[in-house]
Amino acid sequence: MTQCCINPSILSADFVNLEAELQKISNADSVHVDVMDNHFVPNLTLGLPVVQRIQAVSPVPLDAHLMISDADRWAPGYADAGVASVTFHAEASIAPVKLARELRARGSKAGMALRPATAVEPYLDMLPELDMLLIMTVEPGFGGQAFLDLTLPKIRRARAAIEGSGVNVAIQVDGGITEETIVRAAEAGANVFVAGSAVYGAADPSGAIDRLRKAGSL
Ligand code: DX5
Ligand code: ZN
Repeated sequence: MTQCCINPSILSADFVNLEAELQKISNADSVHVDVMDNHFVPNLTLGLPVVQRIQAVSPVPLDAHLMISDADRWAPGYADAGVASVTFHAEASIAPVKLARELRARGSKAGMALRPATAVEPYLDMLPELDMLLIMTVEPGFGGQAFLDLTLPKIRRARAAIEGSGVNVAIQVDGGITEETIVRAAEAGANVFVAGSAVYGAADPSGAIDRLRKAGSL
């Protein structure tokens, strides 16, 4: 059985009661924190000071997803703050290899994200520099969107390249993950699943995590 991680996104949580919302997902593998700058994406969420406070009270490690321009400048600060996993967007970095190395040198896992229409092939040679490849399954910016099946072939190609080169890189998918779509994403080769509305929109968030984990474990 493939190891399957469920990382709830607090984008769908109650931002006024974040500490209580975090306690509801203590059976998750990590908490996915969506940082948006209203420039790389047309939405604005939170930044480093709030991430640091979330980290201080979270029962699980942080998985920061930086949907911000000029990632080369800003992402290392999240690693310096001790965030366990920092994911920047390939489209927002002019030196992704250098940036991934900087994140690892500062003690974080290095993740790189691709928007739905960004091909994975130009980045295959840098897989050894990464701990995680995030394949966006919606256009980044908002929770509650429908899963884009057109991303499945890219997940398959990324999985084949990872297996072929023997590197240890997780494939994360983010956007529209439900108990149905998680099966398709897992079959295509994803093993880390972000779920916002499917977890925080459920009556029992921790039960939803268990159900997603079961559905996504092949
Ligand atoms: C979207 C964010 C996602 C979002 C997912 O840009 O990166 O993490 O919270 O939300 P759902 O699971 O509702 O699609
Ligand atoms: Zn995200």
